[in-house]
Amino acid sequence: MATPELRRVTDDEWVDYCRFWSGLFHEDPQDDEARSWRASLPPERCLTATDDVGYIASSGALPYGLTVPGGATLGCAAVTIVTVRADHRRRGLLRMMMRRLHDDARANGEPVAALYASESPIYGRFGYGAAVPMQQVRIRRSHLATIADGDATNVSLVTREAFVDLAPRISEAIGRRRGGMLVMGPEAWDTHSRNFRGKRPDRYAVVGDRGVVRYRTSGGEWVDRVPDAELEVMDLFAVDAEAAADLWAHVAAVDLVTEVSAKRRPVDDPLRWRVADEARVRDRSRMPLFVRLLDMPTALVARAWEVADRLVLDVTDAFEPANAGRWMLEAGPDGSTCTCTRTEDEPDVVLDVADLASLWLGGVAPATLAGAGRLFVRDPATIGRLRRLFAVDLPPWTPFDF
Ligand SMILES: CC(C)(COP(=O)(O)OP(=O)(O)OC[C@H]1O[C@@H](n2cnc3c(N)ncnc32)[C@H](O)[C@@H]1OP(=O)(O)O)[C@@H](O)C(=O)NCCC(=O)NCCS
Repeated sequence: MATPELRRVTDDEWVDYCRFWSGLFHEDPQDDEARSWRASLPPERCLTATDDVGYIASSGALPYGLTVPGGATLGCAAVTIVTVRADHRRRGLLRMMMRRLHDDARANGEPVAALYASESPIYGRFGYGAAVPMQQVRIRRSHLATIADGDATNVSLVTREAFVDLAPRISEAIGRRRGGMLVMGPEAWDTHSRNFRGKRPDRYAVVGDRGVVRYRTSGGEWVDRVPDAELEVMDLFAVDAEAAADLWAHVAAVDLVTEVSAKRRPVDDPLRWRVADEARVRDRSRMPLFVRLLDMPTALVARAWEVADRLVLDVTDAFEPANAGRWMLEAGPDGSTCTCTRTEDEPDVVLDVADLASLWLGGVAPATLAGAGRLFVRDPATIGRLRRLFAVDLPPWTPFDF
């Protein structure tokens, strides 16, 4: 059987193409939803392959930015809509698409790529490592209502447009203090803030210009004279902890709701410590953001380092061999002297580029990777040096799906 050719998607076929890949994710979008994706996902960054049955594969890259410790933003190919038709699997289509997506990202000046993996074993072979652990939380509204110091009267409901105006500025302010935040253009914010499928519109609220929340409700049957709607927090972020507490207090004040959930919270979310009974916050780990260092030295030099150190890394990278080999990382608080250059010196650390991505934003501890047999050191003291070197004040957080 001939190997199918990959090609770029054209504007005219956009809606049909979206219907194809959405179908493989068991979704069925309306035309207006499919059209809206066009604004943030350029067709020229999307790939497909066709044969006599029609589309057989899809993938694309959103041209986003990704913040790193210290506040810099790096160009990031946010890989999405990866599908291969069920009767064309295991013939190398995904591998071909990843090759092209990486080459395009490099041509576009993007030193990193990122994705959410619906099946996490798939992407390690392409050098993606889980870099931003996250949690989802669930709490009865009555327990959330005990939130300390939160003042719902500081919060006002606003239009979607007002939300889209303020949310990027808050997100950018958070990104100056945390890695992992996506920097998206206004079109992407517009798509992100819509609820095409729910029966009810999303609600948007702000606390001054310091925080935003977006939520939606589902259910709401009355059972034994008690309403049981569930409220799902889609976005809740603020520039300071007080504003976040006010937003949670607002959520707790929404009537006729029994249960509140939030899908994509940072691992250091203070919510548990703000409510009267911390055991009532039920959390579980959520799909992490996977990151790929395409241009590893550029990505390493771009982040800030709290302490000075000098380590030789021996990196394996089967999919992007330009990163492979021994590198001398000289890092320190003075970013202008930070370098990552080739060396022949004996390595202090041996690891794969995917695991280096897990360390990069400070989201995963070196000891954890060493304990899992993914990172090797000659001298056990190197684990402590790595921990101090990659340490961050605030763990990375990626509050957005893509
Ligand atoms: C995941 C998917 C895109 C794989 O496509 P594919 O064309 O069959 O993949 P390839 O033939 O190029 O395989 C590339 C490698 O990935 C591996 N792989 C593919 N699917 C995998 C899976 N579900 N789990 C683990 N490994 C997988 C292959 O074994 C192969 O490994 P190798 O390089 O070691 O030989 C396809 O199964 C699919 O469309 N799934 C439904 C949608 C989905 O899950 N998309 C991912 C969204 S993040």
